[in-house]
Amino acid sequence: MSGDNKKLWGGRFKDASSEITERLSASVQYDARMYKQDIRGSIAHARMLCRMGILSADELQAIENGLAAIRQEIENGEFSFSEKLEDIHMNIESALTERIGEAGKRLHTARSRNDQVALDTRLYITDEIKEIRESLASLIMTLVSLAEKNKDTVMPGYTHMQVAQPVIFAQHILAYAWQFSRDTRRLDFAAASASSLPLGVGALAGVNYKNDREFLRSELGFNDIALNSMDAVSDRDFILDFLYFSATLGMHMSRLCEELVLWSGSEFSYIKLADNLTTGSSIMPQKRNPDLAELIRGKSGRLYGNLFSLFTVLKGLPMTYNRDLQEDKEGLFDSIDTVKISIEGLTAMISTLAVNKERMRAAVYSNFSTATDAADYLVKKGVPFRESHAIVGSIVRYCEDSQKDFFSLGVDEFKKFSPLIEDDIIDCVKPEGSTERKQSMGSTAKSEIERQIAALKEKFG
Ligand code: ARG
Repeated sequence: MSGDNKKLWGGRFKDASSEITERLSASVQYDARMYKQDIRGSIAHARMLCRMGILSADELQAIENGLAAIRQEIENGEFSFSEKLEDIHMNIESALTERIGEAGKRLHTARSRNDQVALDTRLYITDEIKEIRESLASLIMTLVSLAEKNKDTVMPGYTHMQVAQPVIFAQHILAYAWQFSRDTRRLDFAAASASSLPLGVGALAGVNYKNDREFLRSELGFNDIALNSMDAVSDRDFILDFLYFSATLGMHMSRLCEELVLWSGSEFSYIKLADNLTTGSSIMPQKRNPDLAELIRGKSGRLYGNLFSLFTVLKGLPMTYNRDLQEDKEGLFDSIDTVKISIEGLTAMISTLAVNKERMRAAVYSNFSTATDAADYLVKKGVPFRESHAIVGSIVRYCEDSQKDFFSLGVDEFKKFSPLIEDDIIDCVKPEGSTERKQSMGSTAKSEIERQIAALKEKFG
């Protein structure tokens, strides 16, 4: 074998790989994005080998220089990737040997691609998590500032998509901030899970050299060291943890996007999305479509799919490395990209949307949103709640039969339903007063909204 057909592992083979073997094996088209992590891992490994007397100082220097040059070449777009060399690991190793000769061939001593690929993937996730953590925190702070501007904006709160009780728009928005705040906990968990060093275990059983995995751990910034060589090369739980975070975040984003779609529709008109974040229709000139919100809502599908796809790849795999494991990466990369672009789009919509306070106020006057307040009014005067519930129920029915609402009802009409009803019932049924009547921790009353804003700012501000 010669030239392009020569594999780094080709020693025992008589024939070159068939074209389909190469095509099916290749992962460099997508795993090339881990080049930085691969180079960082190789430098740490080479330094460790030098400390252990396996590489000379000169060889280490040549390797470090060679890898730095390759990194530069990749970043300049001058590196030529070869699918025949399968993956990013062998592309870089072979370019290194071409550049520096002998020393390049020694780099893979006491290492296998199995611990190498597990390492690179863990480093890659860790780097991406740092960015995602920041953008998620900024999405949360964007929701907090929208809430701060709307501490007095009354709107209907819904259950079953039916007007239920008056709430403050800030409270509704902060509900999502709390969802995303829990997502950061799942993200932190995924980060911790990725932070266990697999490098230094070799293919599966350990290596026939005295190595220094504690040095590798501290050089690469891992929290701990995987203590079982077989587990180290076959474990992909850390990817599942990240994909679970992504799926849950995607579900939360899709719920918020669903509300943005509803609220920006003409029937609600609670909000208006920024012009440059909506799209027109090719046939209907009046349209302003919330495509960004719909796309983000739709993308939750692939985030769930990537989680279940990896579950399925892993199910039933025997110890240790099996080539199936190469199928762990495309879904991971897709989830990373999807999460990043979705957070960015959502943050853009939230930070620029216009709130139509008047429409919200008008809507909260519908469907007897203060019926619970009227029932509690009677409770305060000694009526048992079940009875007051029935009395207010009959007021509502009376209103419906006579095509009235709480606000067109005269005091005298109210009074017919209970001798305990007095003139102040008129104020009691006004939606504006309802939210401040809430006394429980976590309620939609202003002081509780302020408590939430302070807590979220403390965590993410
Ligand atoms: N490209 C491979 C992967 O992503 C690298 C590990 C290959 N190891 C092996 N024994 N063939 O999993």
